[in-house]
Amino acid sequence: MRRAIKIVAVSLIAAIPLAASVQADENPPTGHDSLFTWLKAGNYKSWVSESEQHRSAGPHPQAVIAYLNKALDDSLTAGNDTHPQGAAAVKELFDGSGQLSGWAVSLKTGDNSDAGQGWYWYEILGTSADSRVVADGNGVPLCFGCHTPGKDFVLIPHPLK
Ligand code: HEC
Repeated sequence: MRRAIKIVAVSLIAAIPLAASVQADENPPTGHDSLFTWLKAGNYKSWVSESEQHRSAGPHPQAVIAYLNKALDDSLTAGNDTHPQGAAAVKELFDGSGQLSGWAVSLKTGDNSDAGQGWYWYEILGTSADSRVVADGNGVPLCFGCHTPGKDFVLIPHPLK
């Protein structure tokens, strides 16, 4: 009896940080300060991703690897025309010598994509907190303009290669 209680207690304690980290990993925060810290810590690394660097079909520097959170991957797998709130993608950007040189992020913040306003966009060209941030907000025209022909603003071919 005593032993059973102890096991329950231990597994409860173990489950709490696990649940918290799954939650944090799946949902990128918005805004440069929090998002940069989250990216730098590699929180998205557990998401499904492309297997290797490839040249971007868009203007994203040199080479990229896309990562999709579960909400976006499931939605693309289901062939949905629109994705749920919380769907997110992170793209690692690499320079000519294959070194990490920044990140691009898209996150659906509302149920409705609202012609691009319902998506948050972020891109940083560098891996320091003071590197050049080229997008940080909802409905950044530079970003959603080119992403408009995508499936609810998502361009990466799916299933990922
Ligand atoms: C001229 C076109 C173009 C512009 C402008 C553009 N992108 Fe993209 N983006 C692409 C293409 C094409 C892909 C598909 C993967 C690839 O080949 O890079 C993509 C993929 C992505 C992805 C992976 C998810 C997806 O939709 O496939 C993210 C995240 C992303 N872009 C963020 C951004 C952000 C943030 C901006 C604005 C700073 C931006 N993009 C501007 C063309 C563009």
